[in-house]
Amino acid sequence: MVEWWKQSVFYEIYMPSFKDGNGDGIGDFSGITSKLDYLKELGIDGLWLTPFYPSPKVDNGYDIADYYEIDSDYGTMEDFELLIKEAHQGGIKVIADLVLNHTSSEHKWFKESRSNKDHPKRDWYIWRDEPNNWESFFGDTAWEYDQVTNQYYYHAFAKEQVDLNWANPDVKEAMFDVMKFWLEKGVDGFRLDVINFLKVNDRFIDNPFDADKNEQNHLYDKDQEGILTIIEQIAEFVHQYPDKFLVGEVGSEDIGILKQFSGLGKLDVVFNFNIGSIEKFDAGRLFEQLSETEKAYDEHQVPTLFFSSHDMSRFISRFGGDEDRAKAVAALMLTAKGVPFLYFGDEIGMRDWITDDIEKMKDVQGLMGYKLALEAGKTAEEALAIANEKSRDKSRTPMRWNASGNVGFSDAEPWITIPNDAMKVNVAEQENDPASMLSFYKKLLHLRKEHSALRLGEYEELRYDEGMISYIKKDHSERIRVLLNFSNQERVLNVGNDAVLLLATKQESPESGRILANEAMLIKEGL
Ligand code: GLC
Repeated sequence: MVEWWKQSVFYEIYMPSFKDGNGDGIGDFSGITSKLDYLKELGIDGLWLTPFYPSPKVDNGYDIADYYEIDSDYGTMEDFELLIKEAHQGGIKVIADLVLNHTSSEHKWFKESRSNKDHPKRDWYIWRDEPNNWESFFGDTAWEYDQVTNQYYYHAFAKEQVDLNWANPDVKEAMFDVMKFWLEKGVDGFRLDVINFLKVNDRFIDNPFDADKNEQNHLYDKDQEGILTIIEQIAEFVHQYPDKFLVGEVGSEDIGILKQFSGLGKLDVVFNFNIGSIEKFDAGRLFEQLSETEKAYDEHQVPTLFFSSHDMSRFISRFGGDEDRAKAVAALMLTAKGVPFLYFGDEIGMRDWITDDIEKMKDVQGLMGYKLALEAGKTAEEALAIANEKSRDKSRTPMRWNASGNVGFSDAEPWITIPNDAMKVNVAEQENDPASMLSFYKKLLHLRKEHSALRLGEYEELRYDEGMISYIKKDHSERIRVLLNFSNQERVLNVGNDAVLLLATKQESPESGRILANEAMLIKEGL
């Protein structure tokens, strides 16, 4: 039996932005439940929900203040349970985002830890008399001085996100209890946030400076010795429960590092940032990373395929805004080897949002960039450009359900304000248009359901030729050739007589025997 997740397409929901069910301007569980029919029709199999636990939301929920409750912005525990129940009835799995690396500074564990040096929870976090040179991933020092006990605590991200000390076995036990709680509530697994950060160097050696990149090289604050043992323990714990799935966010674009974290006895998959986070569109580079991954992975390892997330620019914008190219990239994501993770709104071609007013920026990383730029003597205009570059608000704007005012969030002020004309795309307009991006995604997702070779096939060949990525996916029942012409030139097709065209993204009836520039084609061939 093939594990369910190996043939699933996941859909990431950024909690505050998907669908508001109670009219307060913030997305919530009842909103998501009301859109389950939309998701079923789209053809996805699993949802990844970003953190929904009570949180001061300094980093939009990645700062958890209570691991056992639901944030009231998103509804109640009953609303959560209803979503799980109805999703399962509709054949959709649900995985929860879980932050094991740090808690909010508002969490009671941290309040206890900071209260005095002798508190039993003191050692649950990382306290030192003197800071070292480690920098936070959001910028500036990673150490915060705390007056209560005259020591510094460590935070890899914002100072309100305090790193737990995973060298202490009690921390692990506490987090296993958390996982048990949510597994028993019915979640189908977890997306584990910054999971390679759990261990830091126990001698606190200063990080070196990378002169080429002009930034600190984070050599001693992630991927440290012992991390794989923790990963194995987490995997063992979660996999005691049948059919539960683990995807890890391993912050690295290095396939050599990524490959250590998944496979037998480890996480089921990790996010392949080596493929997914390419900055500018580059078909050659994309091909290279696909084939490097294919070479690096063993028979128990499966890649993931994604190009957007709540931490990244939306790929349609990042890759130049061309819809045909975006369709061909989507075709790759849904037919190449791996588990796809779609990001909400990409299926209608939502674009990045850039603000001209720093007052409208919400993201902690963008705001930190702004502050540090001003401190470094930049003008307000330069600082805003830097902040926009770093800000992750760009892909976090609310789902465009229709063309009206507050982007489908009733009349309430949405949690993030964007001008009404900033995005022209919306679900209502695309739903009945066979030529729309949404119709294209549906077609592709349904083809994937019909053809097991697209979901589970191995590569018979994987090739690159002057801008064209092509491969054949093959399983016991069929062979499907996928052609992705990312070049600016049309090409002659060389396919056998028994070939059946399953999909062409540009030509309606491609009698020409050609594939156009920026076109994707799926062709079924004889075995
Ligand atoms: C992960 C999350 C990101 C968050 C960070 C700190 O990278 O995806 O949104 O800011 O972890 O928790």
